[in-house]
Amino acid sequence: MANPSCFLYAFLLLVAFQSTMINANTVILTPQCRPVAATSNEKIVFSVNLLLYQAQFLLGASIGVGINDISPGLVQGPPPIGATTANFSNRVRRVLEELGLVTVGHLRALVEAEILDAPITSPQIDVSAEAYAAFVNVAFNVTTLTPPFNIYANTPSFVAAAKGFSAFIQQYYAGIIPSIVGNDRQQLVIRIGLSQAAVLGVLRTLLNEVINSTVPPYTFTAAELSNRTSDVVNRLGGCGVKAEGLIVPLQLGAENRTTSNVVPGDVNSLAFVRFEREILRMVFGTGNATMPGGLYPDGFIGTLYPRIRDLRLS
Ligand SMILES: *[C@@H]1O[C@H](CO)[C@@H](O)[C@H](O)[C@H]1NC(C)=O
Ligand SMILES: *[C@@H]1O[C@H](CO)[C@@H](O)[C@H](O)[C@H]1NC(C)=O
Ligand SMILES: *[C@@H]1O[C@H](CO)[C@@H](O)[C@H](O)[C@H]1NC(C)=O
Ligand SMILES: *[C@@H]1O[C@H](CO)[C@@H](O)[C@H](O)[C@H]1NC(C)=O
Ligand SMILES: *[C@@H]1O[C@H](CO)[C@@H](O)[C@H](O)[C@H]1NC(C)=O
Ligand SMILES: *[C@@H]1O[C@H](CO)[C@@H](O)[C@H](O)[C@H]1NC(C)=O
Repeated sequence: MANPSCFLYAFLLLVAFQSTMINANTVILTPQCRPVAATSNEKIVFSVNLLLYQAQFLLGASIGVGINDISPGLVQGPPPIGATTANFSNRVRRVLEELGLVTVGHLRALVEAEILDAPITSPQIDVSAEAYAAFVNVAFNVTTLTPPFNIYANTPSFVAAAKGFSAFIQQYYAGIIPSIVGNDRQQLVIRIGLSQAAVLGVLRTLLNEVINSTVPPYTFTAAELSNRTSDVVNRLGGCGVKAEGLIVPLQLGAENRTTSNVVPGDVNSLAFVRFEREILRMVFGTGNATMPGGLYPDGFIGTLYPRIRDLRLS
């Protein structure tokens, strides 16, 4: 069990299959789902961990560059682990490149508003195929898919994974916007949040275009992959069903009238809300906000994550 990915796998399995069924419409306000007391800037810096990840991930996968190649000197810190250019059509590549560039602009806007100093110190992020394969293996309840899952292999594999990450950004902004103090600062966060919601919509639309195709070289479809990985993420988060597949049972669809679910949402199709601890449990892949791993092997930058860890707010 010394091997970290082995440990992650064992932990994910435990979380994934021992938790109880969660009703889709239950609003769970148990302590582990509540926001952590923090200043406005601490919350914004927490979100920067997510924005940095998304920018590096999408730029690397689409055109093989990082944030500093686009905006020199904007970030410092360890380079992402496992960055790989993906096998996309030119049409998809251009869209994903754009979404990465959009996210770089959001980071620069936070520097220009003097909420962050440049260069922004990045956490260690892991964008490797192996990091994503760990989640997918749990989703299919196998030690390793044959061949091992590679998000960079084709469009369905990539967008099914990338849209999950993008949803965390949308949901965290939906959670913090009301509590951001200062009109200028709140307006900036609203504008970033709205654009990031559009990013999520674009990713889900790309996924919807291939939703009934099988994910090469496997026999499962993109719909099944997205449904199963959503289930894993929901179990890790431990705060209800907020990650949704693209083809859902009627009772999860808008107005209970459709199984098409490009725009996920609650019973009134409102955006779901997620707070810090829930986000960490998912992106760490451990189901434990004080145990880093998964996409962030060393945890988050900023003062909020160390506080969560020191107060043992798992
Ligand atoms: C996962 O697979 C194991 C055997 O490999 C089996 O015992 C277990 O029931 C499976 N769990 C689910 C939820 O299918
Ligand atoms: C790249 O994607 C195309 C189209 O989906 C597919 O035919 C091809 O096999 C893929 N190449 C690799 C190396 O996976
Ligand atoms: C996918 O299949 C479902 C039926 O299972 C169908 O309603 C839907 O239109 C299909 N979506 C696309 C994009 O082909
Ligand atoms: C996945 O599909 C199953 C079976 O249709 C459904 O019960 C479940 O709610 C879906 N999960 C998500 C997260 O979409
Ligand atoms: C959809 O079904 C759920 C129960 O699954 C119910 O609570 C909700 O009111 C229904 N929504 C509409 C718009 O009928
Ligand atoms: C979470 O991880 C910490 C170690 O970082 C451990 O001490 C704690 O028991 C774990 N909590 C749960 C609920 O598993």
